[in-house]
Amino acid sequence: MTHEATAQESSEPDPPRDSSKILDTPLARDVATSLRGERPSIPCRYLYDDRGSRLFDEITLQPEYYLTRTEEAILEQHADAIVARAAPHELVELGSGTGKKVPTLLQAVKRAGMPAKLVLFEINAAMINASVARVKREHPEVQVTGVVGTFPDELQRLGPGGDRLVLFLGSTLGNQHPAQVPGFLTRVAQQMHPGDDLLLGLDLVKDPARLEAAYNDAAGVTASFSLNLLSVLNRELGADFDASAFEHVAVWEAESSWIRIALRARRDQHVRVPGAGVELRLRAGQEIQTEVSCKYTRPMLEQRLAGTGLALDQWHTDAHEDFAVALLRREADADPTR
Ligand code: SAH
Ligand code: AVI
Repeated sequence: MTHEATAQESSEPDPPRDSSKILDTPLARDVATSLRGERPSIPCRYLYDDRGSRLFDEITLQPEYYLTRTEEAILEQHADAIVARAAPHELVELGSGTGKKVPTLLQAVKRAGMPAKLVLFEINAAMINASVARVKREHPEVQVTGVVGTFPDELQRLGPGGDRLVLFLGSTLGNQHPAQVPGFLTRVAQQMHPGDDLLLGLDLVKDPARLEAAYNDAAGVTASFSLNLLSVLNRELGADFDASAFEHVAVWEAESSWIRIALRARRDQHVRVPGAGVELRLRAGQEIQTEVSCKYTRPMLEQRLAGTGLALDQWHTDAHEDFAVALLRREADADPTR
């Protein structure tokens, strides 16, 4: 099966496509759907190959990207209160990346004299291996395991909860489309017992200039991170994207409360993605969306929690209210068959 991504008049017929090159991988299947149609996109989870993961780590160090250092400061300040309330026997971090934030909570668990088990759940195997090794080295008392998996579809691999504190930090929930957030949170809640907790890091709505600067850093690291997605498709799907024919764009869209991130074609072009059976015709100015990064308020979160089985229990922010760390408690089952 092949797809024309955008209808565009052409005097020359396309050459026959070789369907034997179409791959049966999650990336190939996802891209076959997402690149097709009026508004081509690529799911943001594919940004995190090894190079993309290293570039994201570099983003977190950019002066404009206030998110990481602000969240770390909130965690430092409130880790003891969070651990006292959650009283976890097991910490599970979703999308743990380099795993730099969990030690703050592990230290609080240690101070509270609790036994600690840690599970890191991540799409990138190299990241998991490096962070599992680091935790073993720095916290030999912690029993740590890594699960290479994709949320939300593979969350059941975590098994049932019980004295579990799930960490979903870094505003990574913001990369989920708002319409998908209640379903996403419900699936997380399904891996928690009543009384278990979810610690959620959320970037907050603020001055659009600061938001846009965070996604358009002067050093161009975010641009490299976005453009790297084209190299992923070239390598994994035999695509022939020319990265120099695209520019990174990140704009604040207040009506959706998100930064929309895309790769904009600098010229008319025809790109082949044989592994996904896609031929993409783009006009200059047309965009491939790579991410949304939603910015929250407390009422927005509360609204999206409705019906998920999770209730807001603690809300911690920095003095400027740039970022929030919310502790959500899994409620008792209204419907025990759920
Ligand atoms: N938690 C870290 C990293 C955030 S970056 C922090 O706060 O800084 C987002 C992380 O989630 C990356 O490490 C990426 O590899 C991982 N990730 C993104 N989408 C994923 C998915 N669908 N399933 C599992 N991991 C995912
Ligand atoms: C991982 N996630 C929360 C980042 C964000 O801020 O939305 C991803 C990112 N994309 C570009 N810069 C950072």
